[in-house]
Order: sequence, then structure tokens, then C-alpha cells
Amino acid sequence: KAIKLQDYTPPAFLIDHVDLEFFLEPEGTRVKSLLKVRRNPDSSGPLHLDGDTLELLSIAVDGRALQEKEYLLDEFFLEVEGLPDKFELAIETRIDPVLNTRLEGLYLSGGNFCTQCEAEGFRRITFYPDRPDVMATYSVTMQADEAKYPVLLSNGNLVSQGKGEGGKHWAKWHDPFPKPCYLFALVAGDLACYADSYKTGSGRDVALKIYVQHGNEDKCAFAMDSLIRSMRWDEERFGLEYDLDIFNIVAVDDFNMGAMENKSLNIFNSKCVLASPDTATDADFERIEAIVAHEYFHNWTGNRVTCRDWFQLSLKEGLTVYRDQEFSSDMRSAPVKRIQDVRTLRARQFPEDAGPLSHPIRPESYIEINNFYTATVYEKGAEVIRMMQEILGREGFRKGIDLYFERHDNQAVTCEDFVAAMEDANGVDLEHFRLWYSQAGTPDVAVTWEYDAASSLFTFKLSQHTADTPGQHNKQPLHIPLTIGLLGQDGQDIPLIQQGTNSGDRTYSKTLRFDCEQQNFSFTDVPPGAVPSINRGFSAPVKLSAMYSDDELLFLMENDSDLFNRWEAAQSSATRLILKMIGEIQSGREPQYVSGFARALASNMANPDLDPAFVAQLMTLPSISYISEQMQVADFDAAEKARSFFKHAIATELCGSLKALYQQGVAGTAYSPDAASMGRRALRNAAMDYLATFEDDRDCRELVVRHYETADNMTDRMAALALLNDFSGAEREVALAAFEQRYQQDPVVMDKWFMVQACSRLPDVLQRIKKLTSHPGFSYKNPNKVRALVGAFASANPVRFHAEDGEGYRFLADNIIHMNAINPQVASRILAPLGGWRRMNPKHQKMMKSELKRILATEKLSGDVYEMASKSLGKE
Ligand code: ARG
Ligand code: ZN
Repeated sequence: KAIKLQDYTPPAFLIDHVDLEFFLEPEGTRVKSLLKVRRNPDSSGPLHLDGDTLELLSIAVDGRALQEKEYLLDEFFLEVEGLPDKFELAIETRIDPVLNTRLEGLYLSGGNFCTQCEAEGFRRITFYPDRPDVMATYSVTMQADEAKYPVLLSNGNLVSQGKGEGGKHWAKWHDPFPKPCYLFALVAGDLACYADSYKTGSGRDVALKIYVQHGNEDKCAFAMDSLIRSMRWDEERFGLEYDLDIFNIVAVDDFNMGAMENKSLNIFNSKCVLASPDTATDADFERIEAIVAHEYFHNWTGNRVTCRDWFQLSLKEGLTVYRDQEFSSDMRSAPVKRIQDVRTLRARQFPEDAGPLSHPIRPESYIEINNFYTATVYEKGAEVIRMMQEILGREGFRKGIDLYFERHDNQAVTCEDFVAAMEDANGVDLEHFRLWYSQAGTPDVAVTWEYDAASSLFTFKLSQHTADTPGQHNKQPLHIPLTIGLLGQDGQDIPLIQQGTNSGDRTYSKTLRFDCEQQNFSFTDVPPGAVPSINRGFSAPVKLSAMYSDDELLFLMENDSDLFNRWEAAQSSATRLILKMIGEIQSGREPQYVSGFARALASNMANPDLDPAFVAQLMTLPSISYISEQMQVADFDAAEKARSFFKHAIATELCGSLKALYQQGVAGTAYSPDAASMGRRALRNAAMDYLATFEDDRDCRELVVRHYETADNMTDRMAALALLNDFSGAEREVALAAFEQRYQQDPVVMDKWFMVQACSRLPDVLQRIKKLTSHPGFSYKNPNKVRALVGAFASANPVRFHAEDGEGYRFLADNIIHMNAINPQVASRILAPLGGWRRMNPKHQKMMKSELKRILATEKLSGDVYEMASKSLGKE
């Protein structure tokens, strides 16, 4: 059942051209495929075609129909032997898009036809070698009812169109670029079009179109603007231009993931496209900008150069995430973007890498590839690319990218090919660095330091260790690029002169090559009392423990010129204090509060040179989940109590300045989703978040209610609703009812309504969630709804999910079992929280494991859920 990287063999046959013909019907779509096939000189064996849930109507080689005994038809493949070296293969199949609830292959969303083929959905459309190293050009003709499906789209250029009989019409598309079948796409439906255009640097005019449901045309402007800025940015930063005359985006409500980069026909989850000030928060705007860019950037990193096999997924995903992060960082505040990305990495990737599903960014085996679209492959993959850019410098990295495209355009390649291009373009050796691709787990880096006053010598003493992960023991030290600085007692950076090196270049930050288990680095001419700033900009994705005193952390929090590390110092300091309070709460004592943290926070809040968006980040305390991960045995209740206590204490001490910050923000101008306006809103909402801890104070309750009622944009509305959501009084119900009343027609916004309720701290939240599953706006067939209600409860409401009676676990397992039959990908994606049992107390461990066992005992269990549940239990 498991597929292994080491078993890779090249395909026995290659396909030069694919001619597809679709006769679209919700039930009984006929698909005719005509393939130009030739034997691969580098391989041997029968012609192997994948197929899943297909009805084979006919098969012919060079015009001669094959008899049943001439081929082998299994549930999941079709094989033919004794074929000539070159031939034409004609296959006709029948499929039922309306029955496709898995949303892989060809399906219906809101009555429109659409496709999702990555990773292995094309085999649910027709028999084909469904593997990314088979690349072909495509011609696609589709025929459908004209009244119901006026818009007919596929990859590439529209070649011709016309009318058929009985109210049908047809269109023919041609994509001149060879591509793997996972990039194939088709859309047929009744859609509105929002159009614009772009002229590339070399003068190509590109028609840009975003297709949405009628009525949503007014929510496309921001996505379009993001697309245009992405196209320009990729030319400027990487010299990469768009290569066709059309670029289409289609938004659909039912989609397993965020979006898909099909060649010239990106298909998006509508929540990743549609935005207006009244329906989308600032975070939504940022996400839309990033995803539009991400999918566009795939045109080069993914489509023009693609993956040899799915073990290489990070080749395109890690690189493309890195590119979209760089784009956002150029569009907005770079330090704030870095902070957000590291928060995500810590919230999603670190726990994954420390748990039962830990895998390297290039996995070695899988049962279901869809389970490997993970934070590790994506986000850690991007960190690995970022480290190469840190090591080679921006110019060196660009040289490597240029060579990569020079060598591999129109090829399906490996992560190794990428690293080799980086090496060869720069004349460097990245042999040791490659270990990041194959070794799983987050390295622990411990740093101590010594100062010798007599010689003014400051020495960093570094050590690294990576703990064992499932199936991987005795980890090797990694090549870690660790960027450091030194702050003088006046808070200014000290020039760094590394001992034994040329002191010619005066730098204030230096990237150390840390590649042994233990290593020392010394700097000369350092005045006494210097405080080190370590892993600046989060140069390496490691867990750092440094011997800072409490005061040193506060000093960094007030002075570090590296804003990422200033934020990091605040996080470390807060985490340390909250953990201490947790200990006090657990032993039945009153938690003790020390006010140094609040003072350091206040000095940042009062600093006019700082970006408000940054200050808002600084004010946001580490999450309950993150704090609990720092404990031997997680105790979410105590973590929640301690965090709330801490927040309340800070609010009490800084009450005056928080109220002032809040008031300053009120004098608002018209809404705009630019970075500066977002920062102002974020800061004001962060202040409100603290003020709301005076829950028993009438004025403060009223402040939040007023904030909700007077909000003229979704950011402010949601910020208030999230707070009201935890109030026990009537304000909560009033606000939720008003929200529902206002947005019940908008499924994208209703996701927020479901999600906020799933995350409520109120004790009866699970009863309310269960009731919401029969709300008319909820549907198990819509992945967004399941993720908003069930997924969010399990992953973002740890206090209630881990309830004493185990009801939270039972509810999640029931839903996974239910979803397994409808949409296995969605079922398997909400399972991970149950894998966290190792970090719980024995009673909860037992309850969680028994739910995993119950899931595993389900009849007709999909490979997706089987793999996640068995690995979570520790069986594989
Ligand atoms: N390639 C897409 C992206 O990163 C993700 C699609 C993955 N789909 C899936 N079913 N696993 O933009
Ligand atoms: Zn991607």
C-alpha cells in the first residue's frame, strides 16, 4: 500500500499529445481521449494507465478496437502489452460528475462543472498515466448545454467555438506548453466575468479574467489588482514573464484546498478570491493577495518546470511559498510578514514535526499523496529555500534560479536538480545542507556565551540536536545558517569582527555557518555588557534556547534593531512568565504578576517610529496551543487561565495608554486595504482586546458592543464579534443573530459565523456546534463549512476540544467517520488533533486513542483516513 521514493522508475511510455473531447452532462458525461503515445527509450514494460471510478466504453490502438482479452482492466488501472513503439490510443469513458462528492476529478459546484486534478484526480476523468513526469500538449473540446453553461474554459488558447444541435454549444482550447495531467483543467458554467489586462515587460498583451457567480463581480477588484502586481513583481525580482495571451481565474464554492495553479486556468476556492471591505477582513485581504500570487508564481515554479514524482512536491511548493512570502513582504511590512509566517510555522509545522506524522520536506514514503500537502512540505520547504538565499545572498540565489530555468524548462525534475543549480551557479558546495531535505524534525539549538573582559572577546557557544522522529533515529547535525548580532548597553548594534577573519567589513549582523554538534564563534573588540541577538529574522527554522535573564529579554524587546527578534524577545518573555503562572495555578496558588513586561510593551506602544502593525504583533501574546507545547504534559485549562490572568494584569497596568490608543484609532478615514490602514486597525483592535478583559466592567462591555455596531468594515466587526463570542451575557446572542441576518446569503461570510462560534470558550459550545450542523447554511458536502465548524473546533478551541468527558474527541471522530464516505480528503485533514494524544495526561490519552481505534474500525475506510489514523496511533 505504501509508495516509496526509492522505487521510482521512469514511465514505460511517453505521451506527446492529448486530444480530449467532453460531452458534458451532470450524469453520464462521455470523455473521448486520443493519445499520441511512444515507447520511452529509457524504460520498459507494459503501457500502464491509471483509472478510478471510470466506466470504460471503448479502447482502440491505431483505429483497431481492442478485445477484452487484449488488455487487463483492474479497479484502479488498465494495462496493455505487446504495443508498437509508436501508436495512437483512443479511449472512451463515462463518468458521473454529479455523484463526485470527493471533489477530485470532474465535479459540480453550484451547478457548474469544474475540475481538480492535483495530485491524482485526472485518473477519475479518463485512463491515463497519472504521474507528473509524463508531459504532453493538450487540445480540449467540450460540448454542453448553452443555456445552462454559457462559459466553456480550458487551458491555453481558445481555438474555435460553435453551436451544436439541441441547444448545445462547444469550444476548443489548445495549450502549447507540455504539461503533466495534474495541471489539466476544465470549467463549464454560468459565470460572470471581471476583466482587465496586463502588458508584460517584453510587450505581450495578456487578457486577465476572473469568473465568479453572478452577483459577485463587485468582489473581484482586489484579487485582480493582486494578480497584476504579482505579474509585475515576478518580472522585476526573478525576470519571469507570463507566457500566454490569456490568464483566467475561476472561483468555486466547493473546493478541497485554497486554490490550484492549472496552466492559465487557475481554479480558486471562492473564499480565496472574493473580497470587499464589508465581507473580508484585513487578514482575508492579505491571504487573497498571497494566494493569487502563489498560484500565479506556479506558472514558472511548478508548471514550466514541474516535479518528477510526488516525493518532490516541495520542489514546487516550498519554492512557490517562498516566492509568495517575498512578494507579500515587498508589498507590505517585511518584519510583520516574517512574524506572521513564523507564527504559522510554529503553530502548524513545529507540532507536525514533533508528532506522529513527522516527515522530511521530501518524504520517503506515503500511502495517500494528498496527506502530504502539509505544513512541512509547504512552510518548512519555504524555510529551506530561504536558508539557501541566506547562504548565497540575494544575487547568488538569483543566479541559481536563472540556471535552474536554463537547464530545466519544460522538464519534470527533482529537489536535487534545484540544489545542484544553486551550487553550480555559485561554485559552492551544498552537500551538507542537503540533509534538510531528508532529515525530519525541528533542530534544538542551545546557545550560551562567555565574555573575556581582558581581551574584549565575546564567544558564542552553540550546540544542536534533533530528536528522533518516527522511523528516523540518530539524526545528524545540520548546516544551520544562524544570523546573529550584538547589542551594546546603550541598545545600539556593535560592529562584528569575527576572530581570525579579515576585519575589513563592518557588519552589524552576521550569518554563521553552524554545522557541527558543538561549535564556538568568537568576536573581538566587544565592550562589556553586550547582549546577543540570535537567529535574527528567523534565519533558520529551529527551536532556540538561550541563557537570557528575564531582564535581558526585556532589554532586547525594547532595543533590538532586528524587529523580528524584538518581537521574538517579547514572545519568549511572555511565554516564560505565563509558564511560571501555570505552575502556580497547578499547585493551587495565586499566580504572581511582575510588571517589567508591561513596561517594555508600553515603551514600544509609545514609540512613534514603529509601524502600528508591528506594535500590534508585539502586543499579541503567544497562543494557548503554543504555550501548552512548551509543557511536558499539556494543560489547556491552566494555560488559558494563566494567559487570561496575564492579559488582564497588563491591561490593568496599561489601562490609560490602551484607552488612548483605542481612541486615537477612532478618527477613521474611509476603509482601504493598504498596509498602513491595516496596521492602524490592527493596533486599535489589539488595544480593544486588552480592554475587553475588564469583562465585568459595563463601560468595557459597551465599548465592544459599540465597536461591533458601528464597524464599517469586516475587520472591526469580526474583532468585536470574536470578543463578544466569549461573553456570557445577552450581547453575544444579539450580535450573532444580527450577523446571521445580515450575511445569510453569503456562504463565504457565513464561514466566519460558523467558525467564531466553534471557537467560543463558553462551556456549552459543543452542544451549540452540534445544533449548528443542522443549520440551513451548513452542509457536509461543502469543505469550507466542515472546516469552519468541525475543523476549527478541534484545532483552534483546545480548551473545549479536550473537555474532561471526552465528548470533544467523540464528536470529531463521528464527523471524520461521516466525512470519510463523502470526502476522504476533508475527513483526513481534520484528524490531526487526535494525534496529539502523546502530550496529554493518561486519562485523555486513553480517550483519544480509543477514538482513533474506532475510526480505524470503520468499514470502507479510505486510504486518506487510514494513513492519518494509523500513523496518529503510532501503528505505522
Ligand atoms: N498546488 C496547489 C497549491 O499549492 C494545491 C493543490 C493540492 N490539492 C490537493 N488535493 N492535494 O497551490
Ligand atoms: Zn502551491
